[in-house]
Amino acid sequence: KYAQSAQSGPLRDRIATGGKHQLLSVDQFTRETVEELCSLADIMQPIARRQKVSRVLEGAVLGNLFFEASTRTRVSFGSAFCRLGGSVCDTTGFTFSSMAKGESIYDTSRVMSGYVDAMVIRHPEQGSVAEFARATNIPVVNGGDGAGEHPSQALLDLYTISTEFSRLGKLLDGAHIALVGDLKYGRTVHSLIKLLGMYRGLKFTLISPPGLEMPEHIVEQVAKQGKHVIEQTTSLEKGLPGVDVIYATRVQKERFEEGQDGSFTADFQVNKAIIDRCCGPDVIVMHPLPRDSREGAHDLSVDLNHDPRLAIFRQADNGIPVRMAIFAVLLGVETLVQHSMRDV
Ligand code: CP
Repeated sequence: KYAQSAQSGPLRDRIATGGKHQLLSVDQFTRETVEELCSLADIMQPIARRQKVSRVLEGAVLGNLFFEASTRTRVSFGSAFCRLGGSVCDTTGFTFSSMAKGESIYDTSRVMSGYVDAMVIRHPEQGSVAEFARATNIPVVNGGDGAGEHPSQALLDLYTISTEFSRLGKLLDGAHIALVGDLKYGRTVHSLIKLLGMYRGLKFTLISPPGLEMPEHIVEQVAKQGKHVIEQTTSLEKGLPGVDVIYATRVQKERFEEGQDGSFTADFQVNKAIIDRCCGPDVIVMHPLPRDSREGAHDLSVDLNHDPRLAIFRQADNGIPVRMAIFAVLLGVETLVQHSMRDV
């Protein structure tokens, strides 16, 4: 499924940042390192499904520090670490951390480094996870920093697209991808478009309400990455015909500036009617989740729940093997995984 790498040296050294084995941004990846991680995620699948067991992280402890709401990222990182034989210590929200007493990021990070072997951090401020990472030498993974990045989500998204394309006999090079919704504050799309930009000749259609467009500096970075076509529109009807992947996102009202208008029409909802009208039987519908199920929310309709084109739950499941691969690489045990596997 993936090209063989011509690179040598441990993968963790090739994705290191500032000489540290940390994952803060997709800018640390190349196409080759991404594909090596995806191959490793394939190897992890039987452990993720508990058809096989491995204890390569036995004795290791993960610190899961989540200062912003999360279900998938927090639990799947924790589960991935446990599936490799490690254990997890959690802290959730500011209220139950000594940050509520005014402790700094620096002190929190230094202290946690003495307690755990790796940290996953989610924090509402962009750049804050990099601040945690600067204060420690243990592996740190960015689990989402405000409207910044979410590199592990982008990696599992790309893994999902590759897996779905493999089933459909399609290639990522030359694919047409629509990113829909809040492209301004959605950190998953910021990371994903840069990761996809490492492939060749893609067409990106960016469909967002006025005021929630993809930041210009990211569009420029992707345009420089390769011979891609990048189009922007405010219309699903205009943007969706011919796409291979629809990646819908939630409008992140919690990140809006004070007074910012959030009264969007239902025109940005991805639902069965518009997909039947604009797309073919092979389109893949993705969403990083959570989708907003509250009255008046407009991202992804539940009327696609039993439609095989909806890949969102397969996508969420892929979070486990991909995050296992990330831990195995950052903690330097990836070559031990295959030999360590045994039957349940
Ligand atoms: N996709 C994602 O980051 O989900 P959570 O906010 O539930 O972690």
